[in-house]
Amino acid sequence: MSQRTLVLLKPDAVRRGLTGEIISRIERKAGWQITALELRNLDQETLELHYGEHKGKPFYEPLVAFMASGPVVALVVEGERVIEGVRALAGPTDPIAAAPGSIRGDFGVIVRENLIHASDSEESAERELKIFFPGLT
Ligand code: RTP
Ligand code: MG
Repeated sequence: MSQRTLVLLKPDAVRRGLTGEIISRIERKAGWQITALELRNLDQETLELHYGEHKGKPFYEPLVAFMASGPVVALVVEGERVIEGVRALAGPTDPIAAAPGSIRGDFGVIVRENLIHASDSEESAERELKIFFPGLT
């Protein structure tokens, strides 16, 4: 089943020079395609839309501040079961709990600065792709 997902390489990944490493892990999965890619700074409105589900939680304000602290790389990735697949490459939210071999497990330490966002369902992917790449057909 071919799908499309939104991936964000978070400001920590850009600052640490890990975007190439992370993108190459995505590219090595057979048959997946990167169909859009852009380095950009996220404004408050975009972040509120994107992380709206977390509004009111204690980590929301620091999360938004972190996500606005530097540029991110936004990508659209397409391919077989790519939504589940990129989440598997990323590993669980807490990088210390994430297995070595996963992106968060290999490079992360603290929960907020966990390097990568990837849509968690078809519904989320559709919603998030509209926010970040509204011109996509
Ligand atoms: P994401 O949405 O970024 O792909 O990450 P996720 O699904 O694995 O995690 P989620 O629960 O959606 O949380 C979104 C992001 O908020 C930060 N966070 N900080 N307790 C904390 O300090 C905390 N909990 C979550 C992380 O950056 C997480 O990825
Ligand atoms: Mg999430």
